[in-house]
Amino acid sequence: MDTKALFKLGYGLYILTTQDAGKNYGCVVNTVMQITSNPLQILVGVNKNNATHDALLASSICNISVLDDTAPFALFEHFGFQTSKSVDKFAAWPQIKISANNLPYLTEHTNAYLSGKITSTADYGTHTLFTVEITDGDVLAETPSLTYAVYHADVKPKPAAETKPHGYRCMICGYVHPEDNLPEDFICPICKHGAADFEKL
Ligand SMILES: Cc1cc2nc3c(=O)[nH]c(=O)nc-3n(C[C@H](O)[C@H](O)[C@H](O)COP(=O)(O)O)c2cc1C
Repeated sequence: MDTKALFKLGYGLYILTTQDAGKNYGCVVNTVMQITSNPLQILVGVNKNNATHDALLASSICNISVLDDTAPFALFEHFGFQTSKSVDKFAAWPQIKISANNLPYLTEHTNAYLSGKITSTADYGTHTLFTVEITDGDVLAETPSLTYAVYHADVKPKPAAETKPHGYRCMICGYVHPEDNLPEDFICPICKHGAADFEKL
């Protein structure tokens, strides 16, 4: 099987935000899809190791900011390559507004946001699938939504040719494990995917 076939699936990119005990949480997700129109429901897949995961379980509400094609790599570094366990991501990212449900959403590099409440969860081992009933939302710009394919092709920096990294690269987020061996049970410290999603450099 060529697991690269899975990379042909199409996704958008989003900042999923929520709150717990007065602290805001948020992370990059690509696993978002609308599942029904009546009621309006979407599904969101979140890794159990993400701080945002536990905050979602605690609050049962969330916002989804839909990233547009102006989103810089710095935004992914900020929300996708560090954890709210150790930083307050929103203190250092002032381009937000607070929606009616008291949660932040991004006001830049974002063409829409949705607010919702979690109505059920399903356990998928490493991830939880959240069913979210949409309660509010707004269009912020008419810019095209960013796709995962464009993120990989144009947003994520390419490794410089003269300083070619060695080791194994995570095909999901681009993290490089700079060793000559990759243990079978290796978990990407950034996006939490396993060894099967790494390619040898
Ligand atoms: C391009 C990209 C896509 C990602 N997609 C997902 C996703 O769909 N689900 C998920 O749980 N994490 C995803 N992540 C990883 C989280 O954003 C990342 O682990 C984040 O640092 C978690 O932050 P937190 O601990 O503050 O919640 C993605 C990261 C990037 C850079």
